Amino acid sequence: MSLNVDVEELVTEMEEVPTFAPSIPVPNVQEIVRNNPLQVPQRYVRSNEELEKVNHMPHLSSEVPVIDLALLSCGNKDELLKLDVACKEWGFFQIVNHGVKKELVQKMKDAAAEFFELPIEEKKKYAMESNDIQGYGQAYVVSEEQILDWSDALMLVTCPTRYRKLRLWPKTPEGFMDVIEAYTSEVRRVSKEIQSSLSEIMETQKHVFLGLHKESLEGFRVNYYPPCNTPEQVLGLSPHSDTSTITLLMQDDDINGLEIRHKGGWVPVTPISDALVVNVGDVIQILTNGRYKSVEHRAVTNKNKKRISYALFVCPEDDAEVEPLDHMIDAQNPKLYQKVRYGDYLRQSMKRKMEGKTHIDVAMLEHSDTRNGNN
Ligand code: OGA
Ligand code: NI
Repeated sequence: MSLNVDVEELVTEMEEVPTFAPSIPVPNVQEIVRNNPLQVPQRYVRSNEELEKVNHMPHLSSEVPVIDLALLSCGNKDELLKLDVACKEWGFFQIVNHGVKKELVQKMKDAAAEFFELPIEEKKKYAMESNDIQGYGQAYVVSEEQILDWSDALMLVTCPTRYRKLRLWPKTPEGFMDVIEAYTSEVRRVSKEIQSSLSEIMETQKHVFLGLHKESLEGFRVNYYPPCNTPEQVLGLSPHSDTSTITLLMQDDDINGLEIRHKGGWVPVTPISDALVVNVGDVIQILTNGRYKSVEHRAVTNKNKKRISYALFVCPEDDAEVEPLDHMIDAQNPKLYQKVRYGDYLRQSMKRKMEGKTHIDVAMLEHSDTRNGNN
């Protein structure tokens, strides 16, 4: 092969929008319910063991940390300390006073609800393609035997803009694309403020953090959980940790669904009106060598109401090299993770089904058997 051809191929590849991972097409859950609200096919039914009903710990919900972004961003020491504790002990916190306008959140919720109510033929115009997770459908399905989640989703890469597959951005309802753009750019601003506070409490020079996120990769996923006739038998979303740096999630106001792993049990994150739920992703766990935890979480469904949630995953760029920061390692805290190219880590994880935190093994050093960070 001549050099010219190589260069040509390279240029073509660079201009193409990258893909992330294939997923096996599966039935649309909203349609299953539409056709027969009482039916729960066997492929969705989980064992009691997997559901861990005995480990339900709703009494701890009120202890999930709540952080005031206005205080945090002006460097308030108590609030920074709260953030440190939240990242160490919970991996999750709710953010209030974030400045994202109520009207904008409402527009997002109205437009998304309208989109999911469209006939399936209309939504299928934006269906995920077989080799990638962008679009409308279900991701992380890797085998015909896998037990499926009781949810559908619309997943779009929002940044960098040249990664967008605009043909998969819904044109109905009118204005939905603009609302997605406006909402995600506001939440991006919140994410930058949180990242700046994180670099402060991680005692990391801001340029290190910014260096990994010069051209952040960002995915926006709208999760749709239809009601389920037997919610105690299914999961809306399998237990997993997020491969992101941080994730910012807006939930419906008055419906529980998100549950997080804490002290061996499952704690529901009760929605606070207008708050954003933020969680530490795998990247922060790796950077801090396990000091901050990327905590496992899942979504449950309920009998009478649908639930929609809006997750913005903020990630390093594909070429960023992620490894524990030097000052996080010492004799008591030996290095747990090896250096990974972020794009490789992400794609390796996405090729697997969501299964707790097993995917972080991709970055685990072989000799580290303590698994401190792997809670
Ligand atoms: C996710 C997620 C939780 C929820 O999208 O990664 O964890 O409550 N969502 O929808
Ligand atoms: Ni998640």
